[in-house]
Amino acid sequence: MLNCAVIGATGYTGMELIKILLKHSYVRISALTTRQKEALPVQTLIPSLPKDIDLVIRPHSFVELKKSSDLFFLCLPHTEAMETVEKLRGAGKIVIDLSADFRLKDASAYEFWYGVKHRNTARIQEAVYGLTEFFRDSIRGAKLIANPGCYPTGAALGIVPLLRDGLVEKEGIIIDSKSGVSGAGKKLSLSSHFAELDENFYAYKVGQHQHTPEIEQTLSWASGRKTAVSFTPHLLPLKRGILSTIYLRRKKGVTQERIEQSFRKAYDKEPFVRFKGAKQFPALKDVQQTNYCDIGFHFDARTDQLIVVTAIDNLLKGASGQAVQNMNVCLGFPEQEGLGLW
Ligand SMILES: NC(=O)c1ccc[n+]([C@@H]2O[C@H](COP(=O)([O-])OP(=O)(O)OC[C@H]3O[C@@H](n4cnc5c(N)ncnc54)[C@H](OP(=O)(O)O)[C@@H]3O)[C@@H](O)[C@H]2O)c1
Repeated sequence: MLNCAVIGATGYTGMELIKILLKHSYVRISALTTRQKEALPVQTLIPSLPKDIDLVIRPHSFVELKKSSDLFFLCLPHTEAMETVEKLRGAGKIVIDLSADFRLKDASAYEFWYGVKHRNTARIQEAVYGLTEFFRDSIRGAKLIANPGCYPTGAALGIVPLLRDGLVEKEGIIIDSKSGVSGAGKKLSLSSHFAELDENFYAYKVGQHQHTPEIEQTLSWASGRKTAVSFTPHLLPLKRGILSTIYLRRKKGVTQERIEQSFRKAYDKEPFVRFKGAKQFPALKDVQQTNYCDIGFHFDARTDQLIVVTAIDNLLKGASGQAVQNMNVCLGFPEQEGLGLW
């Protein structure tokens, strides 16, 4: 059994990890941490858990963690992971970081979009970007995995095959995404206040969202050229899920069949991507509480636009589910282990 710790276990992604890891056949939870002084029985955080699960969330010293655990899921706010990663990697531990701190290869892009100095640029090159479907070979045996952001996961899965196969232009890509409020984490803010959110719907951080460079990094890799996108996130009055509507310009002569073949080639063997086909569109309720990304598309011959729609659960395929998928690939466990969430 592999000993796994969840650092920042009281947050939304931490809670999902606890639920998944408890069902995993090859790991045991060795530590769950919080900054709070009081130890919390895990059932206080997740009341649906059976009463005989004897786990508490509490502060742990680094010495304790080093002894108890082999692999660490970091569920901390960005910037908080930088030093923790350094300590854990210095001690030879495997780290899967759910924050944005090691996703961008260009530290100056991180500093520009996140508005803070990167304090551990030395580890950026070691980090493997954990979009499992496209970086599986690098994830195998990796020591530091930068788990992708929620919006970038839904966006990239809908675009990468088409760019990689040269079927769409790299210019003029528009990503219009709508997210449930758990995407912003557990901390309260005015925008997550019930009275502000209920029966409301709005765009935010238009042209300024910090996930933009992460999406562009993956798309530039796929197209082989610098690729910029217009990305507009919206907040839905829902708890979880991200639906992205993506507008692409097809290259001259590319047919609907060719688009369909490209998606099928990329995803037919993927356990967690369900390509629905032409004119079949995903809904959030189909993916909530699952690690699936569902994808459908429509080719609008009238306007020459290709419209791709993707849906994921932000806390699972967009965070903790993909983190466990990455652990499974990294350590050679069956990729679906722990993730049969239906
Ligand atoms: N929510 C999503 O959909 C999603 C998706 C992909 C990636 N992520 C990323 O995953 C990480 C965790 O996200 P989350 O949604 O689980 O966040 P969250 O609900 O806000 O939880 C973060 C946890 O980190 C702990 N923490 C430690 N130092 C902290 C500090 N200085 N300030 C605030 N909290 C601190 C807190 O636990 P204690 O108070 O108990 O110490 C808190 O419960 C973030 O980097 C986020 O960007 C989130």
